[in-house]
Amino acid sequence: MLRIDYRNVLQDQVGAAGYSEGQLNDIGQSAVAAVSRIEAETGKRAYRRLPSDKRMLADVLAMRDRFAPGCENLVVLGIGGSALGNIALQRALNPPFYNLMAAGARPGPRLFVMDNIDPGTLANLLEVLDGRLDRTVFNVISKSGTTAETASQYLIIRRLLKERLGDGYARRIVAVTDAAHGTMRAISDAEGYATLPVPDGVGGRFSVLSAVGLFSAAMCGIDVEALCGGGREMVERCRDASDWRANPAALLGTLYKTANDRGQRIHVMMPYADALMGLCDWFRQLWAESLGKLHDLDGRLVRAGDTPVVALGATDQHSQLQLYREGPLDKLFTLHEVERYAAELSIPADFPDDPTLATLGGKELGHLLSAEKRATEYALCVSGRPNLTLLWPRVDAEHVGQFILLYELATSVMGLLLNIDAYDQPAVELGKQAAHGLLGRKGKPYEELAAEVGRTLARDPKYLL
Ligand code: PA5
Repeated sequence: MLRIDYRNVLQDQVGAAGYSEGQLNDIGQSAVAAVSRIEAETGKRAYRRLPSDKRMLADVLAMRDRFAPGCENLVVLGIGGSALGNIALQRALNPPFYNLMAAGARPGPRLFVMDNIDPGTLANLLEVLDGRLDRTVFNVISKSGTTAETASQYLIIRRLLKERLGDGYARRIVAVTDAAHGTMRAISDAEGYATLPVPDGVGGRFSVLSAVGLFSAAMCGIDVEALCGGGREMVERCRDASDWRANPAALLGTLYKTANDRGQRIHVMMPYADALMGLCDWFRQLWAESLGKLHDLDGRLVRAGDTPVVALGATDQHSQLQLYREGPLDKLFTLHEVERYAAELSIPADFPDDPTLATLGGKELGHLLSAEKRATEYALCVSGRPNLTLLWPRVDAEHVGQFILLYELATSVMGLLLNIDAYDQPAVELGKQAAHGLLGRKGKPYEELAAEVGRTLARDPKYLL
């Protein structure tokens, strides 16, 4: 099981910026009350049921069995919650240079997740795939089907496939979209694509354990059953509403809300494992989009939220640690410690007379990384910086499933503690609509927005150098 060591948030450990038992206990009572509400409600928290959805998993595996034979490349087209989970699972659970491994040494096709519309990137991918389109599967993921980035990638790919493969082009596409509504559903039905549904009541950033994240994972040989098993274990562990200290989601909610109340509103996630970076990026969206809200549920102006920041240990010790130890007291640190890495390498003891190199000689590289993590944790404590550690026995499918559900549930707890809607993203809409307006979309509100953007952003030579 993943464990949480939170001793270093206490005043005894880090002094004035730390938290008292009394403070934690007060917020902890609200956190367990939030857990009771989450247990009683369903609706938007449908993500909790995903790891137990046997039919969904069977459909994903059947789709994998249908598309895996002969597939050399899998390309995911999606953005935000329709891409970050795919990247996170692949980065955590397959080797770092997976795509460069020989076909026989990899458990599945190469994976490319196209989560942006930089034309240079997509054009280069198309060059790489030239002549291989008949051995490539395109997994278009869009709940709405109207997301401009994904829709434009899809249109480019569709045209290319039609030109190169003729009528058989539709057989290269697997669409993951709403079961009944939306543009992508209508196109998929009309053109006969294979499809998997985005379940009802599950928003993009909570959808990684649905077909959104699981199809590409299953195609690439990831043990999706173990992933869901880990998710189920965490859902069970987070049911206990008797004591905030015994419930991992309530505990995290308590710690992060206390930090928020204390003005420590920058939340640094620092894994000491490359494999965890994708999951931390996934968390960054989950936390930011769910909790960053202008108004609370009673309509009051609150400007809620924490700013999630991702740093990598040990790399960012040489980039950010100076700030983290001596800069403003506005951060809570979540470090990740891994007990067993995916592989080990011994450092040769070739220079016994050099004091630094002699200390390294004979040690394992993972041992050095763990020592650096412990040393950073200590250094943060000495500087009076509250921090907690997430302890990973190893980075495998079961623990990744636990992590995903743990942070989804902690987000729900935080949403209730902050009294905000953690499941909408109203502030994202304006930019989307304005972009459509700038591209010439007719009607309301697009035309007015395009004109307004022109007026607001008119260049003034006075401020142009
Ligand atoms: O978390 C979210 O809801 C968003 O990040 C969406 O996933 C993202 O905007 C993509 O939306 P869609 O799947 O409708 O294309």
